[in-house]
Amino acid sequence: MTSLADIRSTFLNYFGKQGHEIVASSPLVPRNDPTLMFANSGMVQFKNLFTGVETRDYTRATTSQKCVRAGGKHNDLDNVGYTARHHTFFEMLGNFSFGDYFKAEAIAFAWELLTKDFGIDKNRLLVTVYHTDDEAAEIWKKVAGLPDDRIIRIPTDDNFWRMGPTGPCGPCTEIFYDHGDHIWGGPPGSPDEDGDRFIEIWNIVFMQNEQFEDGTMKPLQMQSIDTGMGLERIGALLQGKHDNYDTDLMRALIEASADATSTDPDGPGNTHHRVIADHLRSTSFLIAEGVLPSNEGRGYVLRRIMRRAMRHAHQLGGKDPVMHRLVPALVQQMGAAYPELGQGQRLIEETLLNEEVRFKQTLDRGLKLLDDALSGLAEDAALPGEAAFKLYDTYGFPLDLTQDALREKGREVDTAGFDAAMAAQKAKARAAWSGTGEAADSAIWFDIADESGTTDFLGYDTLTAEGQIAALVVDGATADQADGTVQIVLNQTPFYAEAGGQVGDAGLLVTETGKAEITDTKKVTGLYVHFAKVVEGSLSKGQGAELVVDAARRGAIQANHSATHLLNEALREVLGDHIAQRGSLNAPDRLRFDFSHTKALSDDELAQVERDVNAIIRQNTAVETRIMTPDDARAMGAQALFGEKYGDEVRVVSMGRKVGSGKGSGGDTYSLELCGGTHVKQLGEIGAFVTLGDSASSAGVRRIEALTGQAALDYLRGQDARLGLAAAALKAPPSEVADRVKALLEERKALANEVAQLRRELAMGGSSDASPDQVDVNGICFMGQVLSGVSGKDLPSLVDQFKDRIGTGVVVLIADTGGKAAVAAGVTKDLTDRVSAVDILRAVTPKLGGKGGGGRPDMAQGGGASVENADAAIAAAKAILEGLK
Ligand code: ALA
Repeated sequence: MTSLADIRSTFLNYFGKQGHEIVASSPLVPRNDPTLMFANSGMVQFKNLFTGVETRDYTRATTSQKCVRAGGKHNDLDNVGYTARHHTFFEMLGNFSFGDYFKAEAIAFAWELLTKDFGIDKNRLLVTVYHTDDEAAEIWKKVAGLPDDRIIRIPTDDNFWRMGPTGPCGPCTEIFYDHGDHIWGGPPGSPDEDGDRFIEIWNIVFMQNEQFEDGTMKPLQMQSIDTGMGLERIGALLQGKHDNYDTDLMRALIEASADATSTDPDGPGNTHHRVIADHLRSTSFLIAEGVLPSNEGRGYVLRRIMRRAMRHAHQLGGKDPVMHRLVPALVQQMGAAYPELGQGQRLIEETLLNEEVRFKQTLDRGLKLLDDALSGLAEDAALPGEAAFKLYDTYGFPLDLTQDALREKGREVDTAGFDAAMAAQKAKARAAWSGTGEAADSAIWFDIADESGTTDFLGYDTLTAEGQIAALVVDGATADQADGTVQIVLNQTPFYAEAGGQVGDAGLLVTETGKAEITDTKKVTGLYVHFAKVVEGSLSKGQGAELVVDAARRGAIQANHSATHLLNEALREVLGDHIAQRGSLNAPDRLRFDFSHTKALSDDELAQVERDVNAIIRQNTAVETRIMTPDDARAMGAQALFGEKYGDEVRVVSMGRKVGSGKGSGGDTYSLELCGGTHVKQLGEIGAFVTLGDSASSAGVRRIEALTGQAALDYLRGQDARLGLAAAALKAPPSEVADRVKALLEERKALANEVAQLRRELAMGGSSDASPDQVDVNGICFMGQVLSGVSGKDLPSLVDQFKDRIGTGVVVLIADTGGKAAVAAGVTKDLTDRVSAVDILRAVTPKLGGKGGGGRPDMAQGGGASVENADAAIAAAKAILEGLK
């Protein structure tokens, strides 16, 4: 039996030999199409090559493209498991020509591959062409020798393929396989065409037109080919099966599901196994690409698929989670063709397990509520919308899951009632909402969110993407066009909106008619609001826009953010477990981290923290992100912000391996934190980490500022340059600068002392022996003098020197300090019981225009506004002595 893996490689190799570049599947989340939720055909990644907007170094390509049809326009979710050919995930094999070959070669290639390489009986093949496409019909006749009755002309859009309302398009020819008259059905175009006998296996589109918004269609400059063949369909055919789920690959997954639940793969639970096998593929591929379950956008589509599968697994009777146990079987089947499955295996298993554990907590009670609600109803009555809404809101049952559960019982949901209950809840939330007073706070955002839904954030994985402009806000009001300062909302964006200390992204937005610079991005009620200025032309609501995040700026921001996580852990390791984050800023040029700690860090502690962070950076391990409940995350040891309110689920970011006896946050992981921000992919991208020191932020909170990457190196270079200047000025090598500066400071201090001494000596008459006049007053030796060139603070030591010299007596010195006066009075110890220096001072200072002064009985100091009456002041001092008994 030819396996699906063999069919895939036969297809790619066939076209490889025909000069086609074998191109890898593009991601399921399209980077280049704002209107598509998931890639749903092979041509999505080549869209711009058909219109000539983009060229590559090849003009022929072939792919096996991962496709998901479970949201947006193409949604096959409801039929999966119940039909032979519906999947949420499938692979589309395709060959493409970009202005290279056209109809004749495309048809010849397809015919040769099907009938020669795949060995399909030509008598079972028939084709359709667009009714006016005589050329294609002629080629079929010539290449395949098909008779006219097996070249069916179809006048409808079935044979005119369009990517969407706009974009490249053209007539197509489809190849059908006749499974035989034992199966009911008629050929395409006949009344019984919906039967299962004639199955379309390959669609070849002749891309020759482009459809525009205004409804017009123009011929494309070049003629191209886009083809698509579902691998599962051709696989079923080549394996002699009628049902895609009977192919080897799908069968292996069904058996894995049966094994894991100890049930019969072909027993009554067969539909459950089919749903599980299909949903395992779509969920695993989405998770491998970084889509994680959430309550918005693509994340919610993923959650819906996961939970549907989990309900089916539950129906099979398993008590324990099942889905994660099937991942190895999937990796074994598809890991060789899609290495991302093997690489992401741990993340896929963990995400499935977490979701299933969590969903199982409410699943039983939800199913019981469902049964109770149904038991009170008439046989065929629809489930009231309120009950479906309660299941959604309280028990985590997406609406389609409830519908799926009811389908088994042949019943439906009153969806209008569900919508009404949902609208009522939104209205309540809106009434309860009050802004935080910022410019971006306005009820207008609720209107926009109601009309267009919330924004899907793509920026964890990509910095460029296309988005569709959902709203333009100018001066607080919505506008259809804008050409100045404007706030822009898009259906999806790679721009990170400011949160958790990480600043919002900046960059460019370009549409067909204009260009805007985005300076900041903020989040308001689930909408990402891009603050922008239109710098060329104008923008219109509804336009598709290319979005380009300033990559250098974002790179610097996320290096700082990742370093902040490492810093947080390093501080805990060096200072202790009491360290808790109190705030942070992750800007492009620096990071700031506030944390609980009462005293300043010593130089050694700071150096140790810096060394630790850099050692983890050099491990250069990959940064991993997972989604789990806040409780599970805390149980694993993840650091959470105290007092922060977390939703039902949190992102957990882990970094680095713990070293030596290091504590680490959880298990072997160095840092484990709840965080919604963006991070480097490998720690080495941080480059380097340098702290700028620690300071007090508020009581009990310290703050460290630091730099990473080029900014850190620039800072060190700057420090080095400054040291170089100092060294040059000192004429010493940099290594001696510190000693030299210390020596200079000591020298300077000694010189300053010497200068002060000299000044004092000068003031006292040029030599230390010179003395002011000594006179005898009332039997006491008195010295009084006015000095210039000395400062007030020199006076006490001068007074002391004179006291020493006279042995016994009273000294009064007045310094002329630029017109003002400073004065000191001293009394030798033997006389202090007769006269106090303080009393003398009090007599002196009024003459100098001062008031009092103070000190001890042996030494007092004061001052005055004018030195003019210094002689009178000295006389006043003498008078005190004369008055003594
Ligand atoms: N793009 C074409 C399709 O999806 C081939 O059918």
